[in-house]
Amino acid sequence: MTAPFGRRLTTVSQGRDVGAYRVITAVDREGPDPEPGQFYMLAAAERWGGGESERPWLPRAFSYARARPAHGGGVELDFLLEAVGPGTELLAELERGDGLWLTGPLGVGFSPADRPLLVGGGIGAAPLLCLQDQHPDAPVLLGFRSAAYAEAAALFEGPVGLCTDDGSAGRQAFVTELLRERLDSGEGQTVYACGPPAMLEAVRALCAEREVPAQLALESGMACGFGACFGCVVPTRSGYVRLCVDGPVLDAAELVTAEVPGAGH
Ligand code: FES
Repeated sequence: MTAPFGRRLTTVSQGRDVGAYRVITAVDREGPDPEPGQFYMLAAAERWGGGESERPWLPRAFSYARARPAHGGGVELDFLLEAVGPGTELLAELERGDGLWLTGPLGVGFSPADRPLLVGGGIGAAPLLCLQDQHPDAPVLLGFRSAAYAEAAALFEGPVGLCTDDGSAGRQAFVTELLRERLDSGEGQTVYACGPPAMLEAVRALCAEREVPAQLALESGMACGFGACFGCVVPTRSGYVRLCVDGPVLDAAELVTAEVPGAGH
C-alpha cells in the first residue's frame, strides 16, 4: 500500500551502530504498513540543509529494513544507514528523541514468489531483512566490502552465506560467486536481490543465462519520491519507467542492464 502525500514528523526511538552502518528506529503512527522493497523519503527535523551553503537539502530515499507493530499503534520502522555524504551523515547522527520527517511507504516492492533466494550487497541488505521476516526459510547470500560492514549480517536470523571483498569476514569472493554456485546446484528458486549496480547487473546476467526469475531492487537519485520530477527514470525493454513509482523493484527480465544511469547505493 502506498502512503498519501505529505510528510509526517516522527521521533527517533533508537539509534545504534552496527559495524560500519547505523540503524535508526522511528514509529510511524499514521502511515500504512509497508511491503518489503518499498521505501521512505527521510529528512532530519533539525539542521537539515542551510549551513554554509544556505541551500535546502532534498530528503533521502531509504528502503526500510524491518517493520513491526508499534506499542500504542502504528508501525515501528528500522532503517539501515551508511554515512556517505552530508545528508546521510546527519541522519546517521540521529539519536533517541530526535525528530525525523518521513514520507512513505512509496514505490512497488517485491512480488510474492515461490522458493525465494535473497542476495544482498552492502547496504542493499536492508530490504532483505523484512523479506526474511516474511520468508524465514529463504537462503540468504550477502557480500560486503570488509568485516566492519559484514557485521550487518548479524541482523539476519540464522546462518547466511557470507563473503567480503578482502576476505576479512566469510569467504573472499563477490556475492555473485556464491549465487553462481547456488544456481549451479540446480535448485529452482526466485532470486530477490538488492545491492550496487555492478552486482545487480551480474545477478541479472547470471539469472538470465540460467532462466531463473529474478526481482532486482534498484536505486536512483530521487528528488520527490512520488512520480512528479522524473529525476529517477531508468530504461527498460518497454521504455523508460520512474523508479519511484514503477519500482524500485523491477523484474530482471524487463531490464537490458541493471547498470542504469544515475543508479548507485
Ligand atoms: Fe521524482 Fe521519481 S523521484 S519522479
